[in-house]
Amino acid sequence: MKWIEAVSYEDMSQIAATIFKEQLKKVKTSVFGMATGSTPEGLYKELVKAYQAGELSFAEAKSFNLDEYIGITPENKASYHYFMDENLFNHIDMKRENIYVPTGDTEDIEKAATDYDAAIATVGGIDIQLLGIGVNGHIGFNEPGTPFELETNIVELTQSTREANQIYFDSINDVPTKAITMGIQTIMNAKKVILLISGTSKQDAYERLRSGEITTDFPASALHNHKDVTVIYTGVK
Ligand code: F6R
Repeated sequence: MKWIEAVSYEDMSQIAATIFKEQLKKVKTSVFGMATGSTPEGLYKELVKAYQAGELSFAEAKSFNLDEYIGITPENKASYHYFMDENLFNHIDMKRENIYVPTGDTEDIEKAATDYDAAIATVGGIDIQLLGIGVNGHIGFNEPGTPFELETNIVELTQSTREANQIYFDSINDVPTKAITMGIQTIMNAKKVILLISGTSKQDAYERLRSGEITTDFPASALHNHKDVTVIYTGVK
């Protein structure tokens, strides 16, 4: 695991953006794994800026988001579909048919999960998977206790995750109780992983990851078993 300390949130976003840009310049057809949440917003701004400056094109690239709530539509402002459109996809030239976000509003949610892994395999796997981390060490919506072997699956959200995500909803009662998420195995299958950690609320998670202990009680610790992980962190202490 490679650790890079950034001097600020902006610096963290720029370092991550450089890695994405270099990948895209090298391989136009790159497949990116995307994350939502407040941590990657700065990275997405950098990518939009680079696209608008004519520095790069996503026209042949593909992307797969980590997760989505179950029971809300892509048009819902709190959905991860909506977040990605607002922060990235509406502002770059990635083709709609190349943008994959797990479907949270379908009858057959189990099939949606299986289809998602199949779609990732069909395009040859993810080149760079972007991750944030939850205060409890979750990655995607893989909460503590999740077996490392799972691929895309349906999960019950913990109270702490629902509370952390309440800011995107009118009240805690509106926060869905379930989500569809890439499993830890899906994440581990990516060729390269970039994990962003920012802010004092993530200090415990940062320290626990840094300790090197591998346990399902702390899902991000699975990443110690991956051969190409870069953690870019700032303001965690
Ligand atoms: C987002 C996701 C989550 C977040 C994590 C951190 O798609 O899967 O694991 O990365 O909850 O969220 P922020 O960045 O809002 O602190």
